[in-house]
Amino acid sequence: MKKDILGIKDLPKEELLEILNLASAEKPKIQNKNFRDNSLKNTSVTTLFYENSTRTKISFLLASGYLGAITDDLNISTSSVSKGETLIDTGTRLDVMGTNIIVLRHSMTGSSHLLAKNVKASVINGGDGINEHPTQAMLDIFTIKEQKNNIKDLKIVISGDVSNSRVARSNIFGLSKLGANIVVCGSSTLISPHFQSLGVYITTNIKEAVKDADVVMALRIQKERQNTATFPSTSEYAKFFGINDEVLSYAKKDVLVMHPGPINRGVELSAKIIDSEKSLIDTQVENGIAVRMAVLKYLSN
Ligand code: CP
Repeated sequence: MKKDILGIKDLPKEELLEILNLASAEKPKIQNKNFRDNSLKNTSVTTLFYENSTRTKISFLLASGYLGAITDDLNISTSSVSKGETLIDTGTRLDVMGTNIIVLRHSMTGSSHLLAKNVKASVINGGDGINEHPTQAMLDIFTIKEQKNNIKDLKIVISGDVSNSRVARSNIFGLSKLGANIVVCGSSTLISPHFQSLGVYITTNIKEAVKDADVVMALRIQKERQNTATFPSTSEYAKFFGINDEVLSYAKKDVLVMHPGPINRGVELSAKIIDSEKSLIDTQVENGIAVRMAVLKYLSN
């Protein structure tokens, strides 16, 4: 039995596919709003978010609730973390109180691995610094598979603030395991040279990147993780790397557009594209609940 979900990099392909299959079984259930399942009725799930979140936190709380778990959200600003309690001490106190699963989001790369080594509870990485955000990649891959049936040989473009993106790293690991051709695009200041070793094609030209693409995944500009300016202004970023109708005219006719959210409207994506039928952004959010139900069940079996 698996204890933790900390990343996609070290998750075997078979286990990733097993979680995606579990999510397929959960998706029809969440579309019935009266659905309840008691498979986690003896499980307690705590969200421990040191960074802000809307989608990840709420979807884990909803997923846990739909499965009958006892749920708690530890509000960091009103918790004893504000008095100096460490991450490990916080986690071990949650252990003593009987939490079975901790969903952690933290700005420190490796924080979820650190916590997992020091607590009895299962730890799910809800985003650790610039390292990984495994359940976001799972829901992204699930959403692509739902639309295109297969990941193998799809041309998938990941554009934007790649260096600072845990979403990009988890997606690159997952999509590569499933045989996608991945193109990464952004200014050279937004793509760390180490991405070359991940087997992706890198370009600074958005039209070259998008040419014949099946899927374009835009990433948020993460101002909170940039110590120095990596581009002159958001309007210049939008001009050179923003995804709009003209850029998408280079892609395949049935191209799909994704974004993990939250979006800087008019920067990474034009407002028209966000609200167009090519956009999978709402589907990603809905699928997040099914995928997180699958992950919770996977850890509880
Ligand atoms: N995509 C994502 O992680 O969104 P939140 O920050 O709202 O959880």
